[in-house]
Amino acid sequence: ETKVIEVDPLKIEEEKIIEAAQAIKEDKTVVFPTETVYGLGANGLSENAVRKIFEAKGRSYDNPLILHVSNVRSFLEYTYISYALLEKIERLLPGPITFVLKKREVVPDIVTAGKDTLAIRMPAHPVALKLIEYAEVPIAAPSANISGKPSPTMSEHVLKDMFGKVDYIIIGGKVEFGVESTIIDLTQGKIPIILRPGPIPPEKLKEIFGDIIIPDFAYGKTEPDYIKSPGMKYRHYSPNTPVILVEYDDADTMVKKVLEEVKNYNSPIVLCLKEHVGYYKKHNINFDTIGSEANYYEFAVKLFEILRKYDEKVDAMIIEGIEDKGIGIAVMNRLRKASYKIV
Ligand code: TXA
Ligand code: MG
Repeated sequence: ETKVIEVDPLKIEEEKIIEAAQAIKEDKTVVFPTETVYGLGANGLSENAVRKIFEAKGRSYDNPLILHVSNVRSFLEYTYISYALLEKIERLLPGPITFVLKKREVVPDIVTAGKDTLAIRMPAHPVALKLIEYAEVPIAAPSANISGKPSPTMSEHVLKDMFGKVDYIIIGGKVEFGVESTIIDLTQGKIPIILRPGPIPPEKLKEIFGDIIIPDFAYGKTEPDYIKSPGMKYRHYSPNTPVILVEYDDADTMVKKVLEEVKNYNSPIVLCLKEHVGYYKKHNINFDTIGSEANYYEFAVKLFEILRKYDEKVDAMIIEGIEDKGIGIAVMNRLRKASYKIV
């Protein structure tokens, strides 16, 4: 039996959060909103509670979770971090970024899949922060989707994937970013490595850390080093309907490629940049817009929503890509991983 609680993030009724926090204390599972995507949480210090997350999601036990905390002090409690480094990461807290650091003993092995490193994040969403505060324990949480499916960015998505599988669902409206947090590894020498691109772009990280490594796999173009980030070996973000990704180029080239692909299907939809709508209207092609060249944040926040919206409603989703810059790197990473074919 799942209890659904609705919360207005701008006018939070404390009793509702306290009820859900009590459930966390009792080793129950709670789905909650964050600024990136919805998370599926449980007491991160309880092996029994964390096991329920893996079961609800159908997630492999060798894929570690992110530990969500509500204050900077917690970084000292759960990881080994120097004050110098803490001062740097403080500038990004709270926010849509996760740090991989050496783990302390108190964090159960089930959270980190037996690794000696911990992924830790302080989310900026007021509901997430309050839930962790009232629970008085850190909350381990992956994205609240069934493993392999696109991450949930709207209440409909979590209800569809998680109703009946968890104890509580906190509905808190639409998320702000729509792609999962940036993950950086701070354990491999002096220079941070981006393991997963997200809302905090490399330029911002360079301001703080000076230098930053962006491996090829962060673009979603090559296979990652599975030892460093085990989760990446699993199929990701994939709808059942095939996704065909058209890499960013000038308008004429992109539209031409799209029109070639359209011929291969009976009832495809083209998901295009707003700037290109005229072309598809002219050719009488079924389309929807997914954002514009002018605003990549809008593209990011609509991405998983649109992948879910047309899943199994059409026989192909042909998507126009954007440039690998800013949050566009995160968008293209997810799209390349979700794609059945890239042209
Ligand atoms: O925005 C987000 O990060 C969302 C919200 C709910 O906070 N969470 C999220 O969690 O995306 P999840 O489990 O879907 O993705 C976490 C990724 C996985 O690919 C996992 O393998 C990786 O982080 N990860 C976790 N612990 C790690 C570690 N110690 N070293 C390297 N990668 C790790
Ligand atoms: Mg996930």
